Amino acid sequence: MHALARNADGDTLIFVHNGAGALFCDYGHLPYCDGDYILLPRGTAWRIEPSELSEFMMIEATASAFKLPDASQGGPSAINPMLFTLPRIDDAFIAQQDDAFWEIHIKRRGQVSTLTYPFNPLDAVGWEGDLCVVKLNWRDLAKHRSDGQRTPPAASCTFVTETFSISTFIPKVGEGESGIMRVPFYHSNEDADEFIFYHRGEFFSRGEIKAGMATFHPSGFPHGPHPSAYQKKMVKAPVETEEVAIMIDSRAFLTVDESIPDGAEWKAYVKTWEKAQETL
Ligand SMILES: [Fe+2]
Repeated sequence: MHALARNADGDTLIFVHNGAGALFCDYGHLPYCDGDYILLPRGTAWRIEPSELSEFMMIEATASAFKLPDASQGGPSAINPMLFTLPRIDDAFIAQQDDAFWEIHIKRRGQVSTLTYPFNPLDAVGWEGDLCVVKLNWRDLAKHRSDGQRTPPAASCTFVTETFSISTFIPKVGEGESGIMRVPFYHSNEDADEFIFYHRGEFFSRGEIKAGMATFHPSGFPHGPHPSAYQKKMVKAPVETEEVAIMIDSRAFLTVDESIPDGAEWKAYVKTWEKAQETL
């Protein structure tokens, strides 16, 4: 039995952390690789066929939809829809159509129901309109050349919903003059919980964080550069940052699922600022 997914609760955003393969959906065939965002509108039937081991981060806009930031949110780096890649009804899409039994697992109000078809329902011959699956890779985003000024986080905004936003931190040329603060200032978010997933590179504000890890700073909790990152980037010559990270700023409360496996949480993270007094 072959299976498809359909999320009727809201749009789904998939970020490809590792791997490569193909997405097949109502709109056709879309190859993917690491660093891709794949935006699936609510109600899209889809499946993924990896060609190599793939790891994803999935973000659901429950009862909402992903939109592009407007100019006031995105600043000069607002996302250009021309950067999107769309699925195609191509030979690979036609080749996967057959008369086997297929299931569509439909999620609505958090519960999953299953429909069964005696053929592959991904059998569109065409479509029109401006609603469809789209793909965007972080490498397609323009470099944020700050030239002596630190780029504010809002300039990295990539997608927004009614309750949260997604920002993409990509490599950028370091600020040009000695003595300029090249790491985020110490702050606490009073309007949003902040979740950051670290995808690639050396993280300029988090000396102890490695790719594949995530940080969670609830609203009201002060945070900022770790002491080791502060030492390295504040004092030395300008550098080009290497980090690629995905940030979710949510006005709705974020909670950690209780089913998180033992050992997945680094409980000493909160103590990583304790060294600040010794090193500054
Ligand atoms: Fe923050």
